[in-house]
Amino acid sequence: MNLVLMGLPGAGKGTQAERIVEKYDIPHISTGDMFRAAMKEETELGLQAKSFIDKGELVPDEVTIGIVRERLGKNDCQKGFLLDGFPRTVAQAEALEAILADLNKQIDYVINIQVDKDILMERLTGRRICKQCGATYHLVFNPPAEEGKCDRCGGELYQRADDNAETVSNRLEVNLKQTQPLLDFYSDKGYLKNINGQQDIDQVFVDVDQLLGGLNA
Ligand code: AP5
Repeated sequence: MNLVLMGLPGAGKGTQAERIVEKYDIPHISTGDMFRAAMKEETELGLQAKSFIDKGELVPDEVTIGIVRERLGKNDCQKGFLLDGFPRTVAQAEALEAILADLNKQIDYVINIQVDKDILMERLTGRRICKQCGATYHLVFNPPAEEGKCDRCGGELYQRADDNAETVSNRLEVNLKQTQPLLDFYSDKGYLKNINGQQDIDQVFVDVDQLLGGLNA
């Protein structure tokens, strides 16, 4: 199963990705997570990415395409993959087509989680993430049982540096500009499947699961 997960910042890509990869046993490839890991380790890639991420800008295509090409070539992707947050520009989508052609693979579905932009600010500024296991929570929509503590592993919850109101507002603007041409690109290829992301988290997954169940049948 070769999947791409699309949606504006805060649409619920990471939240649904956790559930999809657990059920369908495919690797979760999130370019955002890869950049944050590199930033934490202060590698050259991390330092390069930080200057863009802190401002809510996109990391340049050539950098992003390079890390995805390398990751898709790893053995665990033989059984499939879930790309989360990549591609984000038409140039990235075209590069992905070429990478997959080299690997003799093709995309099954591009799942686009649709959420009205007006509710994304609240979703992002209220997001909290577990330092230890990476599980995602929301102060209002998906709170942990005990404040500040992960239900799964007891780890401490933190707020992402790019989830402040100013950076979020730029992230939304930047992504809104890039999204429509990308949706057109995948719609023309017949891969695009829209999912209503304005339902509760479990119901969104029911819809995604129903779609993917059809692929397995
Ligand atoms: P990335 O990490 O990919 O961030 P993003 O696209 O901005 O998406 P988010 O992770 O913020 O949101 P999400 O859709 O995963 O939402 P979540 O499930 O957490 O990228 C970060 C940065 O890296 C980019 O800005 C860019 O600089 C760079 N980058 C990454 N990829 C790149 C690329 N391809 N090219 C160039 N640069 C790149 O949910 C959000 C909140 O809402 C959570 O609190 C959650 O609990 C809650 N929530 C989720 N679903 C629901 C629901 N149905 N109802 C109510 N609340 C919900």
